[in-house]
Amino acid sequence: MKIAVIGAGYVGLTTAACLAQVGHEVFCSESDTGKLSKLQNGVMPLFEPDLATVVDDNREAGRLTFGSTEDAIDWGKAIFICVGTPPLPNGDADLSSIEAVSRSIAKRVKGYRLIVEKSTVPVQTGSQIRKHLAIHSTYGLDYDVASNPEFLREGSAVGDFLHPDRIVVGVESIRAAELMREIYEPIIEQKFVCPIHKNCGTAKENAFLVTDTNSAELIKHASNSFLAMKISFINMVSDLCEVVGADVSKVSQGMGLDPRIGNVFLNPGIGFGGFCFPKDVQAFIRIAEKSGCNFALLREVEKINQQRIVHFVDKVRKELWSIRGKKIAVLGLAFKPNTDDVRFAPSIPLIQTLIDEGAVVSVYDPEASSKAKELLPTIPYCGDPYEAAAGAEAILIVTEWDEFKTIDWKRLAGVVERRLIVDGRNIFNPPEVAAHGFHYISVGRLPALPESQV
Ligand code: UDX
Repeated sequence: MKIAVIGAGYVGLTTAACLAQVGHEVFCSESDTGKLSKLQNGVMPLFEPDLATVVDDNREAGRLTFGSTEDAIDWGKAIFICVGTPPLPNGDADLSSIEAVSRSIAKRVKGYRLIVEKSTVPVQTGSQIRKHLAIHSTYGLDYDVASNPEFLREGSAVGDFLHPDRIVVGVESIRAAELMREIYEPIIEQKFVCPIHKNCGTAKENAFLVTDTNSAELIKHASNSFLAMKISFINMVSDLCEVVGADVSKVSQGMGLDPRIGNVFLNPGIGFGGFCFPKDVQAFIRIAEKSGCNFALLREVEKINQQRIVHFVDKVRKELWSIRGKKIAVLGLAFKPNTDDVRFAPSIPLIQTLIDEGAVVSVYDPEASSKAKELLPTIPYCGDPYEAAAGAEAILIVTEWDEFKTIDWKRLAGVVERRLIVDGRNIFNPPEVAAHGFHYISVGRLPALPESQV
């Protein structure tokens, strides 16, 4: 099918590339002219594992084209709206880009279009789009509006899109439901050439859930808010473990063995970040309160998450006595591994707090340094963990990159001023760290002291 995708961010670019990968003819537009020209010249505007290959392969195969929004609107029967819906100061989602695209479609199109909202939007956005299409239609546009929330995670976007747990479709007509099924058929049947797993044994059952638009829109906010709540819950449990001398990794293991709870998203740490959870929790609170529902539960989830940084810095201060003038190495800037994204990353307010308290901070991240430099331009960005740790009184683990898990302890011990690791992601096994002569403080687990300090 000829499909247009408007917006080439994480969701838009992954959607465009993967729909082309499964056989559709896709036209992807981007209003940011700098980003668009990069894409038209084969340069990736963001770091996402495997995505560059899928984009290149499908451009070369002639199934993926980049261009203007006008050309995208004229291109295909289905138009996926994947523009940004950033948070407004009051926490509401900014829907001005969605409105602008809807209006352009209404003013331009003769004939039929299936308009698919894929950006994360508050409930009832679909009905707003319908209303504005009717108001601004110039040539008697015939249309359907569908909701198709995306659940891909940064760092595994291509795999999540091609091997989803579920595909949620919100529609108000059989015509729209049939078209959406036709679009996703190759993924529902897992019949496509998988760009990640050569002999793709990972073809897994996925649910194709058809519902009404409002319910589909709510599924997205409710799912992300529930996952965020799960993380805040285990973070609270980890604080209790620290006080009573229990081990949160055992507690979460014990909890997770119950399939009603499940062991995923039960990793305590320095808090959830990224461009989804923080803003989706805020937007969901606003949606609920504007509808007269007091979502105090989610307000608590948010508060607990904001407290993670304070709690983490307390641990550092407790060990260092005072922070002023101390050299501190921060390993990890991205909000999670396998991405260069630092939006709402815990690392940023953490480093700012340390700087405000007079610490001398140096940092290292395998991918996210250039993005972080835009937010924190004054600190040194190092080429490897050892350069960052040189002369450090404490090493803080903030993102659980794999490369940190195989650190060279001898080399590290040789460069630090003090052998102290405060881990915000529990990437190490405490006795092992102590065996390498380091004092190790982690989340919700007993501190590990080297022989010499016991
Ligand atoms: C999330 C949702 O997972 C995805 O379905 C949705 O489409 C977009 O938002 P993403 O933001 O890429 O994806 O990150 P995710 O992997 O969900 O992690 C979110 C944050 O939670 C990260 O900061 C991560 O470090 C943190 N996290 C995750 C925890 O602190 N503990 C956990 O157990 C899991």
